[in-house]
Amino acid sequence: MSNAVIALVGGSGQLGTLVADEILALPDVQLRLLVRPGRRDRVAHLERRGAQIVEGAIGAGAEPALAAFAAGATTVISAVQGGPEVIIDGQSSLLRAARDNGVRRFIPSDFSLNLFTVAKGQILSSDTRRAFADVAAAEAGDVEVVHVLNGQFLDRKVLFGFIRVIDPATRTAYVWGDGDTPMDFTTYADTARYTAAAATDDSPIGDVLGVAGDTLTFHETVLAFEKASGKSLRVERLGSMADLDQRIADRQRSDPADFHAYLPLMYYRAQLNGTGRIEPLMNDRYPSVTPSTVEQYVTREGL
Ligand SMILES: NC(=O)c1ccc[n+]([C@@H]2O[C@H](COP(=O)([O-])OP(=O)(O)OC[C@H]3O[C@@H](n4cnc5c(N)ncnc54)[C@H](OP(=O)(O)O)[C@@H]3O)[C@@H](O)[C@H]2O)c1
Repeated sequence: MSNAVIALVGGSGQLGTLVADEILALPDVQLRLLVRPGRRDRVAHLERRGAQIVEGAIGAGAEPALAAFAAGATTVISAVQGGPEVIIDGQSSLLRAARDNGVRRFIPSDFSLNLFTVAKGQILSSDTRRAFADVAAAEAGDVEVVHVLNGQFLDRKVLFGFIRVIDPATRTAYVWGDGDTPMDFTTYADTARYTAAAATDDSPIGDVLGVAGDTLTFHETVLAFEKASGKSLRVERLGSMADLDQRIADRQRSDPADFHAYLPLMYYRAQLNGTGRIEPLMNDRYPSVTPSTVEQYVTREGL
């Protein structure tokens, strides 16, 4: 899309700032950011590079700012993070503003494993994203809503942090069950590249853009790490998949508000049991993106 205007919410976030970088690097494409009042300094580096700023937040009462944000935009991208009030209510008001202002495409803040094949209650944050997808299916009008699915972020903060499949510091890898099911991984940076490519695509994409930098079983992930780092890992089997269900249920029951105690386990469960698998992968649609594998990432980061 030449002369496109891409309107991005969440440009100050971890993924959003990478998406903004990709869009600013495209010729003949204008980037517009929705920035919460008082937080403009967080995107000063993007504003200096030419991003237009609209101040506002997604959510109730934000209609005038959202209309100004969406007016004349070709694609709206959401890279927000939050609870149901942001993901369902906020994104719904953003989608309505996009629809009413003739926006062609809307990319919601999914960026996850296959949230459409994970059963209700298995991952709470996927439930809210599916609830938004239902609103979008009913209310999008002529807007093409494209859900970007990329598996687990193949980064220090996620694969080697939040989910802790591998802890490089203790050289330990953790698994439940047999670890024989393929799992999808994509870096934040590659996800941003695919998102920018989808945002500026001239042709219809469809409901889902599924991509992955690598698809490996747990055991293959361990081997890839060991090959790239030259370090051997100790594998700790934490229990069966039934034990994992029990661990999640116990933690949810003892303190439902403590999401961090069980949300990573929920994501890991959907990868280990294959319910979050992304099929088909559509990497080939954007040959300009060559996503990193686990081995390449570990080598590059010197883990
Ligand atoms: N697949 C994976 O492994 C994985 C891992 C992590 C995240 N994710 C997904 O990636 C997406 C982005 O996550 P992230 O980690 O980049 O998030 P993040 O760093 O927490 O950034 C969130 C962004 O949303 C903005 N925001 C929040 N509420 C808003 C509102 N009401 N109005 C306007 N802006 C609002 C924040 O603005 P302020 O700067 O003003 O706060 C910030 O720019 C999410 O969908 C998340 O679930 C996927």
